[in-house]
Amino acid sequence: MPRLLRHQPLKGLYLTFQLFSAVLVRIPLWIVLAIPASWRPRAQWSIKRVVTLKLLRFILAIDKNTGIIKTPNHTAITPVDQADPHSPTALWITPISDKLIRDELAIWAAAAAISPVQIPGYWLNKKGSHIVMSAPPMPGEKVIYSLHGGGFCALSAHPSDPPGVIARGLLQHVDSVQRIFSSEYRLTSTDRYIYLVKTVGFDPQDIIVEGDSAGANLSLALTRYLVEHPNSGFPAPPGALILLSPWANLGKPISGDRPSWINNAYCDYIGSMLILINILTPLRLM
Ligand SMILES: *[C@@H]1O[C@H](CO)[C@@H](O)[C@H](O)[C@H]1NC(C)=O
Ligand SMILES: *[C@@H]1O[C@H](CO)[C@@H](O)[C@H](O)[C@H]1NC(C)=O
Repeated sequence: MPRLLRHQPLKGLYLTFQLFSAVLVRIPLWIVLAIPASWRPRAQWSIKRVVTLKLLRFILAIDKNTGIIKTPNHTAITPVDQADPHSPTALWITPISDKLIRDELAIWAAAAAISPVQIPGYWLNKKGSHIVMSAPPMPGEKVIYSLHGGGFCALSAHPSDPPGVIARGLLQHVDSVQRIFSSEYRLTSTDRYIYLVKTVGFDPQDIIVEGDSAGANLSLALTRYLVEHPNSGFPAPPGALILLSPWANLGKPISGDRPSWINNAYCDYIGSMLILINILTPLRLM
C-alpha cells in the first residue's frame, strides 16, 4: 500500500484526506488534549509547542508513505564564482590533504575504503545581513558550524532542507551570530572545519559546532578527535558545542536502566522520533 501512495491519483487523494483530517480532527484534538498541563509531554511546554511536535511527527509519517519532502541532491552543486557577491552561497570545500589522514582516521578510512572528496557547503546569513561568502571574520565574530541530522543516511545541509529551520532559528535568536556555515558530509567533517579556520580565518575559540541527531554525533566525534590529537596538524577544538537530540548512545546503558532515547522519545523533537516513527508510525500519530 505505501508504494501506491507515492503515485497519483492515490497520492493526491491520500494527501487531501490527511490535510482535512489534520485541520478538522487532529489539530483541534491535540489542542484540547494539551489543555491540562499534566497531559503534555512536559508540563512546562506551551500548547503551541505540543501541537508543533505532533504536527512534525504527523508530517514525517506522511512523508514516509508519500515521499513529499524532497532532499536536495548534495552532489549536484556546481562550483560558484567566489569573486561575485551575487553568486549563490554554496561552495565546494577542497578535499582534506592525505597527510592529515592518520591515526584513527587512517584506520576508519581504510575500513570503509573511502578517500577524501570535495563536498558542498552553504553559508546562511542573518536576515538583512550581506556578508560576502567566505568573508574573513569581523573582530570578535562567532560562527556556527552546523552538521545536519538524518540518521547518517537522509536529509541535507542545504538551507532549504528541514534541518535548515535550526540554522534559521539560531540566526533569529542569537544576536552574536551573523552567519552559519553548514556542510554535507561523508568521509569526515574535519575538512570543512579546516576551511572555517584556515580559509575564512576564524579562531577555533569563536567556532560553535552545532549538530542535531546524527549531526550531533559527528560534532562530538569531530571535537573528541581534535581534543585527543593536538599534534595531528588539525586546528584546535571548537570553543563550544550545541547538541540537539544527540545521537550519542543508542545501545543498552551500562546501569541496566532503559536508555534515555527510549525514556525521552515522547517529548524528543528530532533524534528518537525519526527512529521511533519507523517502528511505531501507526501508534504515534495521535
Ligand atoms: C545527483 O547529481 C549528480 C550530478 O549532477 C548526478 O550524477 C546524480 O545522478 C544525481 N542523483 C540523483 C539521485 O538525482
Ligand atoms: C555515534 O554513533 C555511533 C553509532 O551509534 C556510536 O557507536 C558512537 O559511539 C557515537 N559517537 C559518539 C561520539 O557519541
